[in-house]
Formats: sequence, structure tokens, C-alpha cells
Amino acid sequence: MNIIDKIIFNFINNKSLYIGEKVTISQHMIQTAMIAENAKSSNNLICSCLLHDYGHFILEDPDELVRKKINGKHEDIGYEYLKKFFKKEVVEPIKYHVLAKRYLSREKKYFNLLSDASKISLNLQGGTLNKKKSKEFEKKDFFKNSIKLRKFDEVAKRTDIKMKSIIEYKNLLSSHLL
Ligand SMILES: [Fe+2]
Repeated sequence: MNIIDKIIFNFINNKSLYIGEKVTISQHMIQTAMIAENAKSSNNLICSCLLHDYGHFILEDPDELVRKKINGKHEDIGYEYLKKFFKKEVVEPIKYHVLAKRYLSREKKYFNLLSDASKISLNLQGGTLNKKKSKEFEKKDFFKNSIKLRKFDEVAKRTDIKMKSIIEYKNLLSSHLL
């Protein structure tokens, strides 16, 4: 199975719920991409949004696990896997979307908007980013898109909207391969 068919297969067949929410991980990622589209984002960013939590699928799929020691976090696991197939403009914001949450949570307003599950995971992810690390992050090439991805991610948990199918994104995915 080629990588695009494999990704589509996983989107269709993985029924796991997104932690603490009423949508599945697949629905959550598709919604994140839909929000990026509505915001007239670049195709690179839409593609990043669509795949940003793909690491959760890998963690659940023994066939995809690099069997040895896999003690990464979902953003690293997704990044390490996807970078073998997709352009860096697509995979870098995926790598940094958790750092973006830690960066944004320095602001009280953003922190208060986080769901309970997201506040708990923030602690596990290292908590709010300090000043020095924040400055370093701001210098990264994909800082802006990582922040945008994170903001779309945060609101992509609705159960009352008409969802697109992963099949509708097949061409977009194919056109962002290495
Ligand atoms: Fe997410």
C-alpha cells in the first residue's frame, strides 16, 4: 500500500476519540484542515493541519511502530514518520504544534480557553514555555505556521458541522509528497 492510501485507510478505520472530546482523532484532524481552508491558509498549512495528530495513529498501530524503543511524544512520532514522505513545510509545524501550545499558554486569555483535557496535557508536555525558550521558538522558520496550526487545532472539536471526507483531501496529500 502506498503512503497516501495508507494514510486514508487509517483515517477511515481509526475510531479512537480525541482525548477528552466527542470527536474522533480523524474528525478532529479533518476539522483542523477545514478551519485552515476557511481561513484561506496556504496548501502547505492545510496539509500540516490535516496530519498534525497523525502520531496518535502510529502509536496505536503496531505495524507502523518502529518496534524497538519508541518513547516519543505524538508530535515527534508523527514528525519522524511523516518527514520520510512529506515536504518540510508540511511536517515542521506538526513537530512544533505542542511547543506552540506551550508558547501560547503564557497568555492568560489563551490558557483559560483550553479544555480541561488540554490543560492536563499541557502539564505533561512541560507546562508554559519560559521566556528564553519562547524567544528561541520565535526565531524558527515555521514559528508562524506552528502557531496558526495550534489555534485551528484548539477549536476543531465540534460535533455539529458537516464534515468533509478524507478522500476529498487525496489530491492535496499527493501533491505535498517529497
Ligand atoms: Fe490536535
